[in-house]
Amino acid sequence: MMDLSLIFLLSLHLSLASAALFPEFIYPNFTATHLKFIDSSGAFLVSPNGTFKAAMFNPGAQQLRFYFCVVHAASNAVTWSANRDAPVSKSGSMMLTGNGLAVADEHGSIKWSTPDFRSPVSALQLTETGNLVVLDQFNTSMWESFSSPTDTIVMGQRLSMGTTLSSSVSADDLLTGGYKFVLTASDAVLHWRNLTYWKMSMDVSVYVNSFATIGFLEMNQSGVYLFDHNGSSVVVRLNLPETGFRLARIDQSGQFSILSYSGATRKQDFVMPVEKCRVPVVCGTNGLCSRGASADSTVCTCPTGFRATPNNPNFCVPSDSAYSLPVSCSQSERSESLNSSNSNYLQLGHGVDYFANEFVAPQNYGVDVSQCRNLCSQDCSCLGFFFENSSGSCYRLEDAVGSVMMRASSSRVGFIKVVVHSATSGFGSSDDEEGLPLVAVVLLPTSGLLVLFVIGILLCRKYKQNDVEFVNSLKNYSKSMSFDDLEFSIPGLPLRFDYEEIERATKNFKTTIGTGGFGTVYKGMLKDKSLVAVKRITNLGVRGKSDFCTEIGVIGSIHHLNLVKLRGYCAQRRQWLLVYEYMNRGSLDKTLFGNGPPLEWEERVEIALGAARGLAYLHSGCEHKIIHCDVKPENILLHDQNQAKLSDFGLAKLLSREDSSLFTTMRGTRGYLAPEWLTSSTVSDKTDVYSYGMVLLEIVSGRKNCMTRARSHSLDEDSSSQGTAPCEFVYFPLYALEMHEQGRYSELVDPRLVGRVTSQDVEKLVRVALCCVQEEPGLRPSMTSVVGMLEGKTPLGAVAIEALNFLRFYGRRFVESSVAAESGGLSDVMVFPGANVSHGSNVSMSTAAFSFISSQNISGPR
Ligand SMILES: *[C@@H]1O[C@H](CO)[C@@H](O)[C@H](O)[C@H]1NC(C)=O
Ligand SMILES: *[C@@H]1O[C@H](CO)[C@@H](O)[C@H](O)[C@H]1NC(C)=O
Ligand SMILES: *[C@@H]1O[C@H](CO)[C@@H](O)[C@H](O)[C@H]1NC(C)=O
Ligand SMILES: *[C@@H]1O[C@H](CO)[C@@H](O)[C@H](O)[C@H]1NC(C)=O
Ligand SMILES: *[C@@H]1O[C@H](CO)[C@@H](O)[C@H](O)[C@H]1NC(C)=O
Ligand SMILES: *[C@@H]1O[C@H](CO)[C@@H](O)[C@H](O)[C@H]1NC(C)=O
Ligand SMILES: *[C@@H]1O[C@H](CO)[C@@H](O)[C@H](O)[C@H]1NC(C)=O
Ligand SMILES: *[C@@H]1O[C@H](CO)[C@@H](O)[C@H](O)[C@H]1NC(C)=O
Repeated sequence: MMDLSLIFLLSLHLSLASAALFPEFIYPNFTATHLKFIDSSGAFLVSPNGTFKAAMFNPGAQQLRFYFCVVHAASNAVTWSANRDAPVSKSGSMMLTGNGLAVADEHGSIKWSTPDFRSPVSALQLTETGNLVVLDQFNTSMWESFSSPTDTIVMGQRLSMGTTLSSSVSADDLLTGGYKFVLTASDAVLHWRNLTYWKMSMDVSVYVNSFATIGFLEMNQSGVYLFDHNGSSVVVRLNLPETGFRLARIDQSGQFSILSYSGATRKQDFVMPVEKCRVPVVCGTNGLCSRGASADSTVCTCPTGFRATPNNPNFCVPSDSAYSLPVSCSQSERSESLNSSNSNYLQLGHGVDYFANEFVAPQNYGVDVSQCRNLCSQDCSCLGFFFENSSGSCYRLEDAVGSVMMRASSSRVGFIKVVVHSATSGFGSSDDEEGLPLVAVVLLPTSGLLVLFVIGILLCRKYKQNDVEFVNSLKNYSKSMSFDDLEFSIPGLPLRFDYEEIERATKNFKTTIGTGGFGTVYKGMLKDKSLVAVKRITNLGVRGKSDFCTEIGVIGSIHHLNLVKLRGYCAQRRQWLLVYEYMNRGSLDKTLFGNGPPLEWEERVEIALGAARGLAYLHSGCEHKIIHCDVKPENILLHDQNQAKLSDFGLAKLLSREDSSLFTTMRGTRGYLAPEWLTSSTVSDKTDVYSYGMVLLEIVSGRKNCMTRARSHSLDEDSSSQGTAPCEFVYFPLYALEMHEQGRYSELVDPRLVGRVTSQDVEKLVRVALCCVQEEPGLRPSMTSVVGMLEGKTPLGAVAIEALNFLRFYGRRFVESSVAAESGGLSDVMVFPGANVSHGSNVSMSTAAFSFISSQNISGPR
């Protein structure tokens, strides 16, 4: 007995001592890293009685993401984090200086900081309630963590009206997710993409005392209270069992739960919504949620007419592969949206309902089902609708679709919009093309351009498969035998190299001259002392071998002065290598946008003409029409005397179906895609003409079409107002259109060439370019006429202004998303407005894929 109590006393003493090891205050010029405080799991600040600690903490003990957190000491529950969207490594630090608090990565670059203060900081305090307070010299608070909550509130914390808690992506990744808890003037509600999916007042254990306007929320040992504006009366009340410590959190699962802790054991006191099937993306996109055997378990399946994608069981697509899910357009595009006459709908079964239907008023009353359907078809942001016959109510699903749920009592019938593929026959291609654009849809449901690119690539693949019959015969031929069997030379194919030979030529792949969507390009020298560029293809699709063989056949059979020549290939040891002639001046983008001496006007015209001739040859000069699909400055290579040659033609179909390479490739490609990539129908040679027109504009201006530049007075009068941003975002094609309308062509030329080029010279190129980028593909000239116009043999085509109005749209959208990205400070991530969906879903696949994009973007510019 004696011993036991002694041990107890000792251990009590020890735990108190360890609490006392760390102070309640820290003072400026303090720095902490996880490593420095590794013995206390990164903690360096402790509240007076040790309930909370502040630490450089890694939730879930993973070793990749460290956050400056306030942690409930007994349970290790994170109640607040500073840098949730910008985690740092183990050596990342937190700093307190006279200017405030900051979190920096291992290189010292700041990832998060408090706002600027008027007076210097004198201390940082962690209170017993878990509030981190920055104090000035008079001990008055200048900033508190309680005022900027993340996903949790604790007892004693006040959440004022309008404040939002946002879920984290997972328990150990605190990145902001898609579910929100919002305190409104009348209730506490749960949101997903601004759609309500639950209200606190709906819960049976909640009392609504009055209809006064809510001012703030507070929680204590006996419950949760929503007070009026001055705190004099409780408007909404939730009574809970008395407890020592509790916190309330919007969980990664989308449920709002209140947990109480006694020591490290936790108990759930309250959860809403109780039915998990009411959580918006509980079963992924289009998944069907039904109640499992026990009350709080769920079963996810796909509704009738849908099936799960192989790589993501929580993403349901139409079973009939002739259909695919459409991509929503953004709000701003709605008014000029394409009329999707080829929309079809799959009807959901009886008793299937949508979470939002109970919370939104139907957009239309008193209509019939076909009117409701037409309204949806005419709206490109509409992805489906629910219809209730008795009242004629039409509920449209806009911008994104979550999961649907079984609710036997529902009297609504649901319809999901699908689009019909234009070309469905042939070659079993639909089989291997599923999955990919669909993943993209999950990730980026409203970010048109990116998804368009993905779809475009696939369409292009399809197009060529249909068009080039020879390709297919060759494909079948090569399919019948494995590559290593091909010890003889196929007639018509370029030279076949041994792997060793290429290893020697490139000095074991020593000098990299570029990387692209298909892999890395190395410099090499063949035995005959000629220089070559060796492209090592790393992103071959599943049918890589046959595709590779096919491409060699096609590419090798094409010879033109303005197309990069394929000298040979190597397919051994699971390596796929293409050997091209070497272009000693690299790609056009380096010369055009680089810091070197500017290209002279004559050189630019020569390059534009060369690229146009190469493209014209691909379209009509050679035996089999080839659509390039990826015309951009990076794919125009230069040789001495500005001889321009197109590269990468015929390679689009080699692109791997792995999203990684797609995302890599498309980053550089966005600005050159034609609007018709939006529709599932016509991808043609005119698609290349559009991209060429975009490149031509860049050749004129010497700058990227989508660019940021410091504000200058000369431009202010021309461009529309863009707020007070320190720099402005210019969508050059729109600017070119405006200058064309005013006849002010010389404003468009590269400023470095001013005085050395006449307005007439510029006019010619700009007018050709504008002809090429007309929205209606039929209005665009063929590449052959472009060559004629540039050579002066064909009169310049008329520019139909109406066919260019869409540029005003793209321009606005570009500026908006750029400004948003800038003010959000989140770099590229913010440009993808739909990214929240995958945060919100607990779909591991899409989350993983998303974090791939975000990590790419985050690791890049910051
Ligand atoms: C903190 O460091 C800065 C520069 O190293 C110094 O100017 C400042 O006086 C220091 N502040 C305190 C409170 O020690
Ligand atoms: C800390 O605990 C002691 C004893 O339990 C209590 O008297 C005191 O009020 C507590 N301090 C704070 C700040 O909660
Ligand atoms: C601020 O608070 C600390 C700790 O409680 C105390 O030591 C200090 O004297 C206070 N300073 C002022 C100006 O009140
Ligand atoms: C939600 O609504 C707010 C304000 O209307 C808007 O700023 C925000 O972009 C919307 N979010 C989504 C995901 O639609
Ligand atoms: C919690 O707050 C409510 C509302 O202010 C109050 O009526 C109740 O007594 C408080 N409970 C405790 C344990 O302090
Ligand atoms: C709170 O506001 C109401 C009216 O809005 C007023 O009647 C009441 O006296 C106020 N209470 C306090 C404590 O200020
Ligand atoms: C879409 O097309 C239908 C029929 O072709 C037409 O009645 C309708 O007005 C069009 N809607 C829009 C928005 O252009
Ligand atoms: C739908 O409502 C209309 C008018 O209220 C009624 O005539 C029709 O029979 C209903 N159809 C179904 C399938 O219930």
